[in-house]
Amino acid sequence: MASSCLAKLFACCCWMLVMVHAVDDGEGGAGMETGELLALFEVMGALLQDSGWAQLHPRPCTDTPWLGVQCEMVQDPYLHVTKLHIGPDVASPPCKSSARLSPAILRLPYLKSLSLLGCFLAADDESVPLPPSLFTNASSLEQLVIKSNAGLAGTIPPSLGSLRRLRVLCLSQNGLRGDIPRELGSLARLEQLDLSYNDLAGSIPAEIGGLSSLTILDLSWNGLRGEIPPSIGQLRRLQKLDLSCNNISGRIPAEAGRLESLVLLDLSRNSLAGPLPDGLSGLRRVQYFLAESNPIGTAIPRFLGAIKSLMVLDLSGCGLSGPVPPFLAALGNLTTLSLDRNRLSGKIPCSLETIPNLDQLNLSQNLLTGELAFSDEFVRRLGGRLDVRDNRGLCMNPPSHRNPLLPFYSQAPPCLTTASSISNSGPETNNETMKSISNTLRSNHATLIAGLVVVVIIAVASGV
Ligand SMILES: *[C@@H]1O[C@H](CO)[C@@H](O)[C@H](O)[C@H]1NC(C)=O
Ligand SMILES: *[C@@H]1O[C@H](CO)[C@@H](O)[C@H](O)[C@H]1NC(C)=O
Ligand SMILES: *[C@@H]1O[C@H](CO)[C@@H](O)[C@H](O)[C@H]1NC(C)=O
Ligand SMILES: *[C@@H]1O[C@H](CO)[C@@H](O)[C@H](O)[C@H]1NC(C)=O
Ligand SMILES: *[C@@H]1O[C@H](CO)[C@@H](O)[C@H](O)[C@H]1NC(C)=O
Repeated sequence: MASSCLAKLFACCCWMLVMVHAVDDGEGGAGMETGELLALFEVMGALLQDSGWAQLHPRPCTDTPWLGVQCEMVQDPYLHVTKLHIGPDVASPPCKSSARLSPAILRLPYLKSLSLLGCFLAADDESVPLPPSLFTNASSLEQLVIKSNAGLAGTIPPSLGSLRRLRVLCLSQNGLRGDIPRELGSLARLEQLDLSYNDLAGSIPAEIGGLSSLTILDLSWNGLRGEIPPSIGQLRRLQKLDLSCNNISGRIPAEAGRLESLVLLDLSRNSLAGPLPDGLSGLRRVQYFLAESNPIGTAIPRFLGAIKSLMVLDLSGCGLSGPVPPFLAALGNLTTLSLDRNRLSGKIPCSLETIPNLDQLNLSQNLLTGELAFSDEFVRRLGGRLDVRDNRGLCMNPPSHRNPLLPFYSQAPPCLTTASSISNSGPETNNETMKSISNTLRSNHATLIAGLVVVVIIAVASGV
């Protein structure tokens, strides 16, 4: 007991000495201003386990630097803390279990970048909120990244909207709840907004349209509801829009087609209804169009054929019906086409194999019919990435593709045996499809029978 008290006293004395020393130093030359230095010690003390941080780093801007602290000379002769970063890469463990964001942070007026990764990890009952009072219009913050903090809960403070200089706001992978505050819409300089992987609810505020500098908007993996606000079309610089894994409903607004800088659009796993507006053909740069698992329920929209920049098109599980349209073959940059888990019917257009870099084609779990007639070369190139399983009406003329290396292609039965079941197939098959199928079947029959005759002749001739 006594020795530990002594140790504490000693530590305390050292601390005082360090402080006096640091403060003395800081008053002149290239040092720091006293108030700012003390504020930094306070902020670090509230976060880090290591109570001796101030002792080890009495002059954090000069002689005793720390990887997570950066200083800059701004106007006056003093060095100012401009960047504070705490994460597994600079401290281990990053923060103490009772870590808090100290109000002393307000006394770091030159702080441009604050990042806290994996810092607040306390259990639910001890979770930490983001104190609203820490964010004011006097702040210099340009970058605020508070990420992967399971113990950070509560709501997003509306006061974040007063950080006028903010360019990056990332609050991803925390336990944040409640609505997205409309006040964030006033962050006119914001380039990146990432609120993914939280428990946010409510709808996307229309004010989001005010983020005129935004290039990245990621609201994925939350519990967002309501409709996509038409004001989203105002985000002319937006390159990435990820709203996947929420419960957003209604139709996609036609205004979204004005996002002419958009490269990635991910609307997967929501409750979005069809039809998709033709205006989306305005997405002239989009390479990733991902809308998997939404109740869209229409035919594959024609406008998709006009988006020549498309590389990955994923419309799996969208309740799509009608044919796999040949116009998709005009998408020359397509590498991945996922149309599985729909109600697509009719024949698979062979022209798809003319897409030069097509590397994944999933048409499984549909109502496709007719002969599988891709070339051997195409089938071999895609291998297991060509999936046509679970289409009852598909058949193939044996045996060239029967190769164990092509697991998802070669499972269709030979056309001869399925012919009658196809021509009697259910009401889903429309008139035109029916005609084309029965035509194909007729010609397939002819080929097959001719083939069999040849086989029999050869067999007889060779005396088997
Ligand atoms: C900042 O906020 C204060 C009070 O909160 C207000 O008086 C001041 O006008 C604001 N400054 C700017 C530039 O908006
Ligand atoms: C999604 O929202 C709809 C109403 O728009 C609701 O009926 C449904 O239960 C919600 N689904 C989930 C998983 O919350
Ligand atoms: C297709 O890809 C090539 C190579 O990446 C690119 O130069 C071209 O612009 C793309 N075409 C379209 C229409 O985006
Ligand atoms: C194709 O889609 C089905 C259904 O979604 C899925 O189970 C299967 O793994 C996919 N095939 C490939 C090769 O990705
Ligand atoms: C099929 O087409 C014929 C005329 O070509 C029409 O009379 C008939 O109603 C159509 N059947 C269906 C199910 O659409």
